[in-house]
Amino acid sequence: MRPSLTEKIDLKKSLACFVFEGEKLVLGFPQDKKMAEDAKKEGFTGRAGTAAVLHPKSGRPAGHLLLVGLGARKSFDLERLRRAAAFAAKKSLSLSQASFSLRLPEVLAPEDETRAIVEGTALAAYVFDKYKKKKSETSLKEVSIVVSKSNLNAARPGLKLGQVLSEATLFVRDLVNEPPSDLTPLKFAEFAQTISNEGESAGISITIFNKDEIEKMKMGALLGVNRGSAEPPVFIHMKYEVEGAEKTIALVGKGITFDSGGLSLKSPENMETMKMDMAGAASILGVFKALPDLKPKVNIHGIMALTENMPGGKASKPGDIFRSRNGKSIEVLNTDAEGRLILADALDYAVEQKPDAIIDLATLTGACVIALGALVAGAMGNNEDLYKEIEAASKESGEKFWPLPLVEDYKDGLKSFAADLKNISSIRREGGSIIGGLFLQEFVDDTPWIHLDIAGPAWTDRELPYCKSGGTGFPVRTLLHYLLKQ
Ligand code: BES
Ligand code: MN
Ligand code: ZN
Repeated sequence: MRPSLTEKIDLKKSLACFVFEGEKLVLGFPQDKKMAEDAKKEGFTGRAGTAAVLHPKSGRPAGHLLLVGLGARKSFDLERLRRAAAFAAKKSLSLSQASFSLRLPEVLAPEDETRAIVEGTALAAYVFDKYKKKKSETSLKEVSIVVSKSNLNAARPGLKLGQVLSEATLFVRDLVNEPPSDLTPLKFAEFAQTISNEGESAGISITIFNKDEIEKMKMGALLGVNRGSAEPPVFIHMKYEVEGAEKTIALVGKGITFDSGGLSLKSPENMETMKMDMAGAASILGVFKALPDLKPKVNIHGIMALTENMPGGKASKPGDIFRSRNGKSIEVLNTDAEGRLILADALDYAVEQKPDAIIDLATLTGACVIALGALVAGAMGNNEDLYKEIEAASKESGEKFWPLPLVEDYKDGLKSFAADLKNISSIRREGGSIIGGLFLQEFVDDTPWIHLDIAGPAWTDRELPYCKSGGTGFPVRTLLHYLLKQ
């Protein structure tokens, strides 16, 4: 989709205008009054999530005139606008309109409104039809955003930012939606290599560690999870280095390209979507894809551990003990709690890079989906400020996070009689996400750290305002806003 900014309405196209609930219709057309009557006849009041399609008789605009509800003015924010823009895009597509104009409400900062509209339309128009014989017929080609002349320059940065953020998000969706036998750890590494090559002049570099090298690095937990798989593991370290940076942030991602559960096999229903278990790692690739365009003034490490979790003949067995990279031994009582194992090694590696902060991204626990539902990520860590910063970034993106407490007392549940730790708690079925967070904390030392459990929002089974079912691209936009604010 190609978005553009203009100060002139192209009356040869369809036009969408946003309308606040209960407010008088002022579009600036000679036939305003007639249109207000038509809209009323259709029962349109401007409620959020509703639209009216008008066909002005005078032929201006030539296509449809779409009125899109924004809800009450007092509850207006960027997410409202993003959703309304998404609604407009979907409505236009359903009317077979591949391009349309959209008028900026000009209530909030023009830059932010423009970004929200670009995101809403681009994200809503995404379809994953790579594997379909019949490709989707109408795709959104052009969205021209109409803004008053005095706001045109102020709006411009929002166009670029919205585009870059959307492209990064769609790239993550593509990776997550890719079938698990196609997107193996090695294939994932190829994508990482490509992104690194493309960003080389912007300061991006990469090291890809193969199985032998992972063995040399003594990543016993990652290797242990990999044992049941026919595909070798991969460990990826990407770097973005920029002159004048004062801080270094490490992003650490869970990259299970398929989670069968291992010998603690999942049920068929729970396994259906488990190609999404690499969404954490994928979101880091999404970040790196956007860096050359955004050029934030902060050094960034992208650290990703990739493997399948399979029940092959050599698979690890409940009761096995792994030795992680930092020397701690882990008794594996449930091979389906594999994310924390590969992250143990990845976090230890990240600590060694001496970053100012570590953010880990992981589809870690089903318990988080139970606790917060499918739309909210759980956030746990050892640093209040880091959470505040993620929270501020999430206000920009519209992606939702909620803090969970790392209750010290629960750590007792991770004690093992045979090893330093076990990978599940003896207090079964209680606080599963927190237990996961407490386990990870064992591997971050005192480095400021936040763990984002994205098991719920990284994937959706139902259509969301600007995402059809499948990978969502969560939380790549939040991460980029966070990095831009450093
Ligand atoms: N990848 C899953 C978590 C998950 C569940 C992600 C649902 C997305 C949707 C993870 O590896 C897992 O299986 N966790 C177990 C942990 C348990 C064995 C302690 C779980 O949540 O059941
Ligand atoms: Mn699992
Ligand atoms: Zn998993």
